[in-house]
Amino acid sequence: MENFWRESLQGIFENFKLNLRLMPTRCELCDVSFMNGRTPNYESIPQQHLYLLRYFSAYLFEYHAAYQQLQTAGFLDDTPRIASLGCGSGIDGAAADFVFTDYTYRGIDRVRWNMWFAAEPPCTGDAGAYIPIKDNVFVFPKSLAELPVGVVDALACNLPRTSAKKICIINSRRKADDLDGEACTKILQGFALASPTTHTIMQIRPRNADAPGFNNYLRWFNYPNEITATISSLAQTCPSRAQCPQGVSTEGPCFRLGSNKLCWNGNVPMQWSPVFSDCNFSTDIYLIDRT
Ligand SMILES: C[S@@+](CC[C@H](N)C(=O)[O-])C[C@H]1O[C@@H](n2cnc3c(N)ncnc32)[C@H](O)[C@@H]1O
Repeated sequence: MENFWRESLQGIFENFKLNLRLMPTRCELCDVSFMNGRTPNYESIPQQHLYLLRYFSAYLFEYHAAYQQLQTAGFLDDTPRIASLGCGSGIDGAAADFVFTDYTYRGIDRVRWNMWFAAEPPCTGDAGAYIPIKDNVFVFPKSLAELPVGVVDALACNLPRTSAKKICIINSRRKADDLDGEACTKILQGFALASPTTHTIMQIRPRNADAPGFNNYLRWFNYPNEITATISSLAQTCPSRAQCPQGVSTEGPCFRLGSNKLCWNGNVPMQWSPVFSDCNFSTDIYLIDRT
């Protein structure tokens, strides 16, 4: 996994730098934020790259841990046939490849991301329109909270149509305290309505709350300083900084975003550091037996 992680990260960074050179202003990068219910514009390639530079490592390791846990449980009665709803760039598909030797992976997203990490190509489309045939693993990789109610309702109706008898649902949430509202419950209830259901819940949480850095247990993890320095100083190196009132004053108006800005968020400088630890690992794994 080390080589894959290192080469992928470098590839994302090279692409990001290329796009950055073409951007006269960087204001749109402020959208790479989840504060106050905001979400990035996933259609924007520079935003995708910035998102990945921040989260790719953490999510790769978290999804890997989730699939490992599923494999250790020995629960499925067939090879894993994974459907990833809101797969983005297929990070969870890449993680699956390091755990399972025999599996299938179908990633579905309404946006076709510029970078793709899974072995099998993505399907572009709305998750709510997906009708499984015999998938037995449904994954929501940081996506469920962002799906509109109508899409969740459709998933609750459609996913139980799979012919699989032993099914796993993996819900990877953004943060431990980040609730998906009723979305996951609705989907579990969809299975309960379709047939009698047994749930076993497993969870992935930070391994060590006191010292959760990845380099504690991945000795090779060494996030390149150049990437950290580049994304931490995006505001300072922005070509339009001299013309931007935000560049000189926390009070200056932001022409685009009101209180959330590239330089400052309220009175606090915007934080663009990558995630180096598992402090936000928060995955719930449900096993459904309808044999
Ligand atoms: C936070 S991103 C997660 C991306 C990726 N799974 C990851 O781990 O980085 C949420 C993803 O959900 C996708 N999404 C949102 N609504 C969707 C829908 N109705 N159907 C399919 N994908 C959707 C977005 O396009 C985005 O790629």
